[in-house]
Amino acid sequence: MALVPVADLLVQAEKGGYAVGAFNANNMEIVQAIMEAARLEKAPVIMQASQGAIQYAGLDFITGMVKIAAGDEDIPVALHLDHGTSFEQVIRCIRGGFTSVMYDGSKLPLDENIAITKKVIEIARAVGVSVEAELGKIGGTEDNVSVDEREAMFTDPEEARYFVEQTGVDSLAVAIGTAHGQYKGEPRLDFDRLAKIRQLTNIPIVLHGSSGVPDDQIRKAISLGVRKVNIDTNIREAFVGKMREELAKNEREIDPRKILGPAREAAVEIIREKIRLFGSAGRI
Ligand code: G3H
Ligand code: 13P
Ligand code: ZN
Repeated sequence: MALVPVADLLVQAEKGGYAVGAFNANNMEIVQAIMEAARLEKAPVIMQASQGAIQYAGLDFITGMVKIAAGDEDIPVALHLDHGTSFEQVIRCIRGGFTSVMYDGSKLPLDENIAITKKVIEIARAVGVSVEAELGKIGGTEDNVSVDEREAMFTDPEEARYFVEQTGVDSLAVAIGTAHGQYKGEPRLDFDRLAKIRQLTNIPIVLHGSSGVPDDQIRKAISLGVRKVNIDTNIREAFVGKMREELAKNEREIDPRKILGPAREAAVEIIREKIRLFGSAGRI
């Protein structure tokens, strides 16, 4: 099936009250694992590539792999740029065949974030590509910030309303207490803030840094309007964890397929679990 824009998947998710999993596709085995999980769970799926992943694998390789993986299957698949901080990179992805892009201007002053997001939307809309933006700073678990400092970076609901009104963006990534990477303690999401943002913007909300967030908090976030849930770290843990296990079992193994094959299987399992948690299983 031809790749579809993320916005199309989120419209369906909105109707069904579920979220679509957005999984970071860092190499061939992970692309295959995402597709296999989507096929087994009969779920729409988003494959996303960060600027780092594009640098690692090459833009044409990522696009090519995802197109081949989506191939003949009747599964709706979107190819999305994750955290595009460079306008040029966003445009290269649109040109390269991505069906959705995130322009992440969250580190910029509000007016600059709005101006560049608008510019991206103008170009993307002309070719049917959907756009996600970020407001507030999600950051990483490794960032050395206190709880107060992190809360100061949370998305302001009124600012979100203004941002969406000004840009007309398709979906919005928000900072409500999640962070990228492995959590040290248990994250506690600010659901009041999420509900307010959703009420004032009325567009699909995107949850980043979702690996390690307890299942009940993910479910609650979805009930409050999160329609795209980003997962990278949990796949890395499953994939590399299995590689370590296989290597430890046979230190003399030199066939990469013997290590990467089981790692791919481990990735399929964790992705299937997430798809079921997000409520997107059986939606096609
Ligand atoms: O949001 C961050 C994603 O996990 C991508 O991470 O820049 O290391 O590819 P990366
Ligand atoms: P995690 O790696 O914490 O799951 O975050 C993924 C993400 O938000 C990608 O944009
Ligand atoms: Zn992210």
